[in-house]
Amino acid sequence: MSAWRWGVFLVSYYVGRGLIRVARLLAYATAGVLTRRELGRATAGRWSDFGIDETYVLSGLFTWEENFYFRFLKPDDHILIVGAGSGRDLIGLRRAGYNADGLEPSATAVALARTMCAKAGVQAEFQVGWIETTEITEKYDVFIFSWYCYSYICDRATRIAALRAASKRLSPGGRIILSYTVTEPVTRYLPRGAAARLGRLTGTDWSPLPTDIIMFEHGGLHFEHQFLPGEIEYEVASAGLCIAAHQVGDDGLIMLMADD
Ligand SMILES: C[S@@+](CC[C@H](N)C(=O)[O-])C[C@H]1O[C@@H](n2cnc3c(N)ncnc32)[C@H](O)[C@@H]1O
Repeated sequence: MSAWRWGVFLVSYYVGRGLIRVARLLAYATAGVLTRRELGRATAGRWSDFGIDETYVLSGLFTWEENFYFRFLKPDDHILIVGAGSGRDLIGLRRAGYNADGLEPSATAVALARTMCAKAGVQAEFQVGWIETTEITEKYDVFIFSWYCYSYICDRATRIAALRAASKRLSPGGRIILSYTVTEPVTRYLPRGAAARLGRLTGTDWSPLPTDIIMFEHGGLHFEHQFLPGEIEYEVASAGLCIAAHQVGDDGLIMLMADD
């Protein structure tokens, strides 16, 4: 490669890396000035066009979902899928003979899920809303927080509120199943510090944790909490639940029951 081409590459590389860092800082800073509720709204847009491909929606349950979920589901269970999205896992469960309905904050995703259920020849009820704030009138035997949905709930207090909300609407002997992302300890001092400082200045009601991931995605902000060892146990205990089964590998899978 000639010297000038190599020079162009090096300049582009360093400018590009700098822009990526600026974008990350801006994403944390933006999240920092939002309240918990506003942050939830900002992330819902990110899920509006997730999994919209028909082949994906009709592809059924993933193998890990079948392996974990089917251990705990009983044939007559009434199941609520929290974070039903465009309907993939709900349609998979319905096709496997389970009575599953869905809750999902993105109205766009729910509209698609309804269309896809009709195409798949299954019937299901959907509610648009967040698990932590939606008034759930029925009792369910099982709440399944869909594929990493629990990790996508912004802020620890909101995640604990989400578990409490589900636990209040559990039938006797009911179960809560969820998956979450795991990580090693990380730093991210600068973006997290910026978000925390802006939050204090603007009087918001939350502050990022060291292993929160915040970034701009198509449609809105992506928020994800990646769990360090012991964190899920803390949140589960704070919600007054107990762990009945727990599997940790590349990610975490857990089944919870009421602590009585
Ligand atoms: C990875 S998507 C899974 C969608 C679908 N179940 C699937 O597997 O294709 C995670 C879903 O969780 C939803 N979600 C995030 N926070 C939520 C909350 N607080 N309450 C209910 N759903 C939530 C998102 O809107 C998103 O649709």
